[in-house]
Amino acid sequence: MRIINFPKILDERGNLSFFQNSAEIPFDIKRVYWIYDVPGGEMRGGHAFKEQQEVIVALSGSFDVVLHDGKDRHKISLNRSYMGLYVPSMYWRELENFSTNSLALIVSDCAYDEGDYLRDFDQFKNLKQNA
Ligand code: TYD
Repeated sequence: MRIINFPKILDERGNLSFFQNSAEIPFDIKRVYWIYDVPGGEMRGGHAFKEQQEVIVALSGSFDVVLHDGKDRHKISLNRSYMGLYVPSMYWRELENFSTNSLALIVSDCAYDEGDYLRDFDQFKNLKQNA
């Protein structure tokens, strides 16, 4: 996992940031989805992906991404629209502490496939430790 800083073009009319396949994003983007209108106190995620890699961006507002690598837990707060969090495959993730009107943008290298989800934490931990 790592933080990616996207280019920032600043002028008196405001700011512009962007990312492109394989330049700022370390994979080919296949799918984009976004999470919004999260009620206070709700959590998203609660799973890992066997293959899928993602980059998560707080386009607006803020939230925390809690990542577990099978041994350690890391909490990353996202609150800048020019920063992305790269999450490789086989990281358990939870998104929580969403601010009002926050908007999470997620880009992925895979089409949606429920078969790629690991939704049982113990199963994830076993697979990770035996990898
Ligand atoms: P899920 O990935 O479990 O949500 P999150 O991890 O953000 O809490 O997805 C929630 C539901 O949406 C689930 O029924 C699958 C569906 N879904 C799609 O159909 N396509 C998609 O690209 C995504 C991300 C989810």
